[in-house]
Amino acid sequence: CAGRTFCAGADISEFGKPPVPPSLADVIAALEASPMPVVAAIHGTALGGGLELALGAHYRVAVPSAKLGLPEIKLGIFPGGGGTQRLPRLTGVETALDMILTGAPIDAETALSRGIIDRIAGAASLNADAVAFAREIAERRPLLRVRDREDRIAADRGRPELFEAARKAHARKYRGFEAWLKAIEAVRGAVDLSFDEGLANERRLFEDILNGTQAKAQRYAFFAERAAAKVGDIPADTPVLPVKSVGIIGAGTMGGGIAMNFLNAGIPVTIVETSQAALDRGLGIIRGNYEASARKGRIGPADVEARMGLLTGTLDFGALKDPDLVIEAVFENMALKKEIFARLDAVARPGAILASNTSYLDIDEIAAGTGRPEHLLGLHFFSPANVMRLLEVVRGRKTAKPVIATAMALARTIGKVAVLTGVCYGFVGNRMLAARQREAKKLILEGAMPWDVDRVLTDFGLPMGPFAMSDLAGLDIGWSAETSNPAEIRDALCEMGRRGQKTKAGYYDYDDKRNATPSAVVEAVILAASERAGIARRAIPDAEILERLVYPMINEGAKILEEGIVARASDIDVVWLNGYGWPVYRGGPMFYANTVGLPAILARLKAFEAERGADFKPAALLERLAAEGKGFAL
Ligand code: NAI
Repeated sequence: CAGRTFCAGADISEFGKPPVPPSLADVIAALEASPMPVVAAIHGTALGGGLELALGAHYRVAVPSAKLGLPEIKLGIFPGGGGTQRLPRLTGVETALDMILTGAPIDAETALSRGIIDRIAGAASLNADAVAFAREIAERRPLLRVRDREDRIAADRGRPELFEAARKAHARKYRGFEAWLKAIEAVRGAVDLSFDEGLANERRLFEDILNGTQAKAQRYAFFAERAAAKVGDIPADTPVLPVKSVGIIGAGTMGGGIAMNFLNAGIPVTIVETSQAALDRGLGIIRGNYEASARKGRIGPADVEARMGLLTGTLDFGALKDPDLVIEAVFENMALKKEIFARLDAVARPGAILASNTSYLDIDEIAAGTGRPEHLLGLHFFSPANVMRLLEVVRGRKTAKPVIATAMALARTIGKVAVLTGVCYGFVGNRMLAARQREAKKLILEGAMPWDVDRVLTDFGLPMGPFAMSDLAGLDIGWSAETSNPAEIRDALCEMGRRGQKTKAGYYDYDDKRNATPSAVVEAVILAASERAGIARRAIPDAEILERLVYPMINEGAKILEEGIVARASDIDVVWLNGYGWPVYRGGPMFYANTVGLPAILARLKAFEAERGADFKPAALLERLAAEGKGFAL
């Protein structure tokens, strides 16, 4: 290839379509069968099918900066062009499994040490060096075909423990995924079968996976993320405003995390607090996070100081006169936010972008209190804001197009995945989450225990259920002793001092290592609450728990679509994949809805509605699509 890549592998958009000959396997076979020795001269990335192609050559020479890898696993597939058969013949099974199961690329030096390439060429003399190498080996016969190599793999034959070890090493990370197990099976064929049988075995396993729902979901997620960056009514060439400095109001959980995003990108940040104590605490946490990253080797010690050097903390609100963008992250309280934005309006320079990190509040109402609603929008980060990739960019009624274009571009600069949403309570993610939370609360009154609800969701593939999540975040978020209602389970637990992991007790009991166990105390509180509410508890099957939790989310997603809060169903999925840990192999709630089938979901919602009321009333869009025999347009 021209440019930075030797060959970057398959065109993902071709997957799932009828293949057009010649297949990669045929090309590689032709290369390998050549009576003349073939030397691959690798000048850039050789990834996936690109590396498999290079493995079809008799020798490989690469520039020092070349990157070689088999990243297929990241798309829910594994190498299907002979990679699972040839790579182990060069590196041995253990290394091949590691490369195939992590998908991580390696540099030329590592590739040489692992036997994947034969020589490193000069950075600027690849062609000459590769030709010189070719001359050296031109007379060598028989031709050295990777398929015939036994030197590395012989020792691995009859060692099933190698495969068992790989299974153990990746089991946690790939819980719920299918492709990795098939990849291990395919590599196993490299030692148990002849080369041709192994190749056929790989092909059979590969095709199953390639056409399966998981791989479809992962390809879909890949394209959904790219689609989310495009905004229909805002042309790609809309001018973006310069953002050379950022102001942040509030150095709490979110303010600090948000600041780190910009510091990491080299953009100076001024953070404003109301008290020195809160400021010191906030800045201290940022430094602590960077120092922890440096200890883990993720950044250098000099980076800690460089990033902290870009950060200014102050109690002087007037310091917000300079930044190009100011993000408010104070307590979630409309009166307070309005007051802050009125002050900001008076201080910020004309043309500066003003943003709120509010989780639920009405951006239009906040904007109306300023003289520049066209420069105001929501930038809703997810916690921890320095880690989570999602950013909901909330477009107010009056937000100007260049302001939105700037926010979408800035998201990319700081490594976020942005989804543009309109104004509504909780935007996309929290609005759908609220539907799930509502049902989770009801389920524990009706007969399930928090650990039943959580288990159903973790079995489904989410990292955590609502009750474990609540324990992690703190049960007392939004709770106060004055307004506490002991009839509410959450409030009763807070009153007992069970505030979550931080108090070693919430819905679960926690040991010193934060391991959770079901709590008898909580069970008693719940049983009493059911009794008080006059509910005869019943055993609720797992399948029903899942439907009760997920179908209302899908229904809410349909309402979000019909209200035009997002442009596409896939935007909703991008939110859930990147902000809430929805398992990528299930594509997102809207993709998942299509795999279940909208008529089936509609029927369940209607049954729930008949039994338990309007919370389950199906969205008009869902009714219509189901009647038309369609799914959500993805
Ligand atoms: P927090 O309580 O950790 O931090 C708020 C900070 O704002 C405190 O340090 C407080 O001293 C400071 N503050 C209050 N009034 C101020 C003022 N007038 N001037 C300057 N600083 C002031 O709250 P958190 O969790 O960071 O939330 C902030 C906002 O972010 C809220 O609107 C919340 O809904 C939203 N949010 C929170 C998420 C979370 O998971 N915690 C996720 C996404 C959004």
